[in-house]
Amino acid sequence: MYSEKVMDHFKSPRNVGEIPDADGVGGLTSEICGDHTFVYIKVNNGMISDCKFRTFGCAAAIASSSMLTEMVIGKTLEEAVKITSMDIVHALDDGIPEPKIHCSVLAADSLQEAIKDYYSKQQK
Ligand code: FES
Repeated sequence: MYSEKVMDHFKSPRNVGEIPDADGVGGLTSEICGDHTFVYIKVNNGMISDCKFRTFGCAAAIASSSMLTEMVIGKTLEEAVKITSMDIVHALDDGIPEPKIHCSVLAADSLQEAIKDYYSKQQK
């Protein structure tokens, strides 16, 4: 059902945890299943220098969040904001079946919230 890459990120998730002095935090609850994901970002000169996550959800959600953190570290905010749930699914070797795509949406949308939070803090 899941690709080897999904199982690898599920069993050994990367960048799990919180960033206490995060520049942006995004947390969302899936309307479909009620699971939660929080994404924390650290930003330096417009680039995401660190990203961590906490996911209270299924294997696909944990793997998606883990993959997302690897995808965004080192990217500019402009590049990161364009990352979609399907980009995450492709990066996981298309290893998430259709009924679980919403788990990747949770990760992608939580990153969007973290970036929004970063920009709103900059305006204050
Ligand atoms: Fe809830 Fe996957 S079933 S995030």
